[in-house]
Amino acid sequence: MTSGENRRASRGWWDADADAYQAEHGDFLGDVDFVWCPEGLREADARLLGDVAGQRVLEIGCGAAASARWLATQGARVVAADLSGGMLRHAREAAERSGVRVPLVQCDALAIPFAAEAFDTVCTAFGAVPFVDDSARLMREVFRVLRPGGRWVFSVTHPMRWVFLDDPTERGLVAAHSYFERTPYVEYDETGAATYVEHHRTLGDRIRELVAAGFVLADLIEPEWPEGHEQIWGQWSPLRGRIFPGTAIFVAEKPSVLAPPPASVSE
Ligand SMILES: C[S@@+](CC[C@H](N)C(=O)[O-])C[C@H]1O[C@@H](n2cnc3c(N)ncnc32)[C@H](O)[C@@H]1O
Repeated sequence: MTSGENRRASRGWWDADADAYQAEHGDFLGDVDFVWCPEGLREADARLLGDVAGQRVLEIGCGAAASARWLATQGARVVAADLSGGMLRHAREAAERSGVRVPLVQCDALAIPFAAEAFDTVCTAFGAVPFVDDSARLMREVFRVLRPGGRWVFSVTHPMRWVFLDDPTERGLVAAHSYFERTPYVEYDETGAATYVEHHRTLGDRIRELVAAGFVLADLIEPEWPEGHEQIWGQWSPLRGRIFPGTAIFVAEKPSVLAPPPASVSE
């Protein structure tokens, strides 16, 4: 599959799914709130982005942009970006409802339409990263738009979950796929065109892609399923969450002092 086919499938899928996604998860995510994962970890408690007051923040794969609006209430200068016009329509509606407005940009996270070093922080909760074929390129693109010393924090499905069936019940406690199988999960329509694409990377792959882009990994958070939290989200459930992790949150930093380019060899 080409990058173009991947992008078309993702855009079409999230446009078509936007209403259902927000109907199912909108209450959990809130209109002005930053929830990192189905385990319910909130940025208000985790503070993975540090103090964002006055910071220039870009949220990629923002969906309805509840996180971006929450960041705006904390004093950040936020831009929220997503590939899907359907998702951004929900972002506009939530801005109307809440009265918290942030600039919205429709773009592919592989080609962020901002200048180098335009942001202090880039973040996403489950947006963009698993849906692009070339996540190493996405890491380089985020590195480009961050200033030296800036931070990149993203949550994704924990790579462990790739191994197990996509089922929140006991039936899902079966190891069915190889952790090392990187062939993407693809759904097709009757014409054979891809309609949904999701890519698996191992923990090592993700760290290697970050490091190759120039980042330093500061932390890797595997939120535990909290006591008393009973809400199921797709394959994320209390049953499975108590046994093995469902989310990985990577906290990476662009070094303040960048290594000089290799000296050219004079003849
Ligand atoms: C699982 S949703 C997460 C949305 C939101 N962050 C949340 O927590 O609800 C994934 C989002 O990633 C977006 N996305 C997928 N591929 C993308 C890409 N290549 N560039 C930017 N956004 C993308 C989708 O449109 C969708 O809004």
